[in-house]
Amino acid sequence: MPASVVVGLQWGDEGKGKTTDFLSEQVAMVVRYQGGDNAGHTVVKGDEVLKLHLVPSGVLYPHITSVIGNGVVVNPETLIGELDMLAARGIDVRRVRVSRSAHVIMPYHVALDRANEARLDGAKVGTTGRGIGPAYGDRAWRLGLRMGDLVDPEVIRGRIERVLPDKNLLLDSMGANGFDVDALVEKAAAWGERLATHLDDTTWLVQSALARGEHVLLEGAQGTLLDLDHGSYPFVTSSNAVAGGATTGGGIGPLQVDEVMGVMKAYATRVGSGPFPTELTDDIGEGIRERGNEVGTTTGRPRRVGWFDAVPTRYAVAVNSVSSIMLNKIDILSGLESICLCVAYECDGRRLDRWPSSAESLARATPIYERFEGWEEPLHDVRSLAGLPENARRYVTALEELAGVPIVLVSVGPERTQTIERAWRPMRRAPVRV
Ligand code: GDP
Ligand code: IMO
Ligand code: MG
Repeated sequence: MPASVVVGLQWGDEGKGKTTDFLSEQVAMVVRYQGGDNAGHTVVKGDEVLKLHLVPSGVLYPHITSVIGNGVVVNPETLIGELDMLAARGIDVRRVRVSRSAHVIMPYHVALDRANEARLDGAKVGTTGRGIGPAYGDRAWRLGLRMGDLVDPEVIRGRIERVLPDKNLLLDSMGANGFDVDALVEKAAAWGERLATHLDDTTWLVQSALARGEHVLLEGAQGTLLDLDHGSYPFVTSSNAVAGGATTGGGIGPLQVDEVMGVMKAYATRVGSGPFPTELTDDIGEGIRERGNEVGTTTGRPRRVGWFDAVPTRYAVAVNSVSSIMLNKIDILSGLESICLCVAYECDGRRLDRWPSSAESLARATPIYERFEGWEEPLHDVRSLAGLPENARRYVTALEELAGVPIVLVSVGPERTQTIERAWRPMRRAPVRV
């Protein structure tokens, strides 16, 4: 049984949590493969609302093994808080497995991220302030602590003694407070003690599940346009959010992935800085932000809102080899007189059909729109494409044609069951329980 990847096609917050939860009914294991607690994934089942930053979004199902893969950077404090929150809700958290190879976000990473953003002033990336960039930086520089290191206080001390003088120097130069070796060793050792029973060789867990014929779902965080390589650098995150990241960060090989479900919402949002050609700064944008409750799950910052941009969609479909799409939040567009859809840009007096690789070009791009008639009806109770108002159907068809792959699921509300399933559903295989 091969693996499926769920990946964001925009700037994050496309509703990957809802998509993953919805699909989890049919799989045995859900694996987060990159990012850290910069992610905020929302799952809604009945009256229950779950905001998850590290634990994969399938955790509500008792049959799911939840895996935090080697490509994730883990803030142990966030993870412990999340495990406690889940346990308090009666969820068996022993099924949450954490890769020994995943890197640890240390307090100095968080402090460096925040101090650096403050220093950048007008050129801020607008990070979530969770230490993501510095932690991935140390990983690449081979200076990191890994989750498996936390169970050995001597290893912790050795690693911290090696890096802390430099970190403290840097923090001091930025006007921020440094850290004490002994206090950090004590803190990290306590994390290790608390999390020891969750640590695992997750690559073998994933490979054994696949070998048993189980269906593994890999859940991406952030989105393609925030990808370190494919987004508008430097206004990106520090990991590979694209589907390819599932192989390096999730413990699978490329030929084990047979499906990539792209997740997008019916309009666009972006948190943090960086070019956003279709951004709406008027009342229409404000209305969408309010109706869509577009406030950051992790930071509480209002999300920037804009019309759907199909230029990066084509790029995202290509680089992720997207085979099917879930379209979320179309219900939020009800009540608009007309809806704009960006099909190309004008840049330096020329038409641009391709997503540019430079943030500078993107900043100069102005959208070329196709306009669609809106609809009044609320969509929350619609459960078939035929049940959508004609203008909504037209809009979905246009998105599908622009993306070039089938939209197999359409979400009309945050709750698990507020979902339109089309007849052709490649994700839905019979569950295999071992
Ligand atoms: P993620 O980071 O991609 O998992 O997305 P977030 O959870 O950060 O943001 C998506 C928000 O939209 C969450 O509050 C979801 O509960 C909500 N949501 C998801 N799908 C729908 C939908 O179809 N309609 C509405 N109204 N809300 C949705
Ligand atoms: P989910 O998984 C939306 C953005 C930040 C900032 C940039 C870099 O919920 O979709 P970082 O803290 O990663 O160094 O910040 O990336 N960002 C997100 N935006 N959704 C997310 O996650 C994000 N994770 C990071 O706002 O612009
Ligand atoms: Mg989110």
